[in-house]
Parts: sequence; structure tokens; C-alpha cells
Amino acid sequence: MNRKYRKTVIAGNWKMNMLASEIKPFMEQLKAELPKTRTCEMVLCTPAVMIPAMIKAGKDCKVAAGGQDVSKYAKGAYTGEISASQLADIGAKYCIVGHSERRQYHGEDDMLINAKVKALIDQGIIPIICVGESLEQREMDLTMEYVAYQVKAALSGVDAAKLRRCVIAYEPIWAIGTGKTATAEQAQEVCQGIRAVIRGIYGARPARAVSILYGGSMNAKNAAELLAQPDIDGGLIGGASLKPADFATIIKATDQE
Ligand code: PGA
Repeated sequence: MNRKYRKTVIAGNWKMNMLASEIKPFMEQLKAELPKTRTCEMVLCTPAVMIPAMIKAGKDCKVAAGGQDVSKYAKGAYTGEISASQLADIGAKYCIVGHSERRQYHGEDDMLINAKVKALIDQGIIPIICVGESLEQREMDLTMEYVAYQVKAALSGVDAAKLRRCVIAYEPIWAIGTGKTATAEQAQEVCQGIRAVIRGIYGARPARAVSILYGGSMNAKNAAELLAQPDIDGGLIGGASLKPADFATIIKATDQE
């Protein structure tokens, strides 16, 4: 983390878990575990139907609500889709885009992800742009090349002023939901590489200001070490964000020098 230049963000990704009726008890438990003062922005990304309940329950412990996906279209005949303006209208502040599960199970490619990033920015929602390599790519030593491509594609046509409203999440696919976390060194190396890619496109200042999160089996035990890395500005947390005590421990781990 480097709090002098950029904000720390701890975002939970609930994926397709939980019910709206479970949010209130979850938030009560979370609130009881949280320190009074916090040094990070807290976000919980839920299925879109649960965002209003999250906003209501999250108000007094200042948890922002986020979506997990968005349509690239602004409006119209796209049955089943949810637009960025609809997310903004119900109060979503963030939205995950390009998660590897969307890429893998829903055939999302980099062009589509770029369109979604722009749709979110246009509506004032901060995209949490997910990038990350597969195990095969890592073993073939293609990690940085592939991740650099994903970052460039996702940000294509996004100017420096708009970049300030974006968060990047480095999530190696082999670490998601597997219990296999990248080492702090591996995660730092790629997050630093992502910042270098952004520096190459936008210059030093915007690169210094962009928050880059790590995701992939981040948990209450390994969070502090990951967050201590200079280019890791927070976490995108799946499994551990479903447990209030663990999520609170990760939030507390941001409070380090
Ligand atoms: P995980 O998921 O923390 O359960 O590995 C992270 C994610 O998919 O965003």
C-alpha cells in the first residue's frame, strides 16, 4: 500500500452467494468486529438484486455497495441484462468487470470488457477491472505479457481523467477459490508490472494514483503480508468476504505503516 498517493480498497465479491435477508445480520456482525476508525474504503459486491439491501444495511458502517457485472449496452431490448445507469440509479458505487468467472463461463472477451468499463465510467460507477493469468500461462512465463495485454485492452479509449475513477484487480486464475494464494512476492511483481504498464500509457502521475488490488484466496491469515507490498493497494476477496470476522480481520490488516 502507499496511502500517500492512492486509496486502499477492500472489496468483497460475494459471487452468487447469500440472500438479501442475510445481509442485515451479516452487517451487524461485521460492524461489531470493525475498528472505529478505518484506513480503507470498504465495498461489498453482491448480486444486483441485493444492492438496495446492502446499501441500507451498510450505511452506518460505511460499506459501499457494488455490482458484479454490467451490460455494455446503455438501454433497450437486451432481456436479462442490467445497465450501468440502472446500477447507478439504485446506488451502486463500484462494479466488478472482467472477472475470470465471467471470462470463463460467459465467454467475455477483452473488447466486451472494455465496453463495460466505459459504460460504468459514463455512469460514475468505479469499475474494478479484473485481470490475471491461468496456471498454464504462468508456467509458460507469459504472465506479464498476458496481464499487460488485458490491462491495455480494458483501458483502451479511457483517458487519464477517467482512469482516476478505475480500480484494477490482479487475480491469478489459479489462486481463485483454490486456497492457493500467490506469494506476496509474486503478487507484488505483477501489481508493480501493471503499474508500469499504466505508466507507459498515461505517465507517472496517473500510474502512481491508481489503486491496484490483489485477489485470489486472500484471507485473514495472509492479508497483512500481501497488503504490506508497495504496489498492492487492497484486496478483492471472495470466500473470506462471506465471513464477517475474516472480512473484518482483512480490513484491520490495512492499518499498518
Ligand atoms: P477467492 O475469490 O478470494 O474466493 O479466491 C476471489 C475472487 O474471485 O474475486
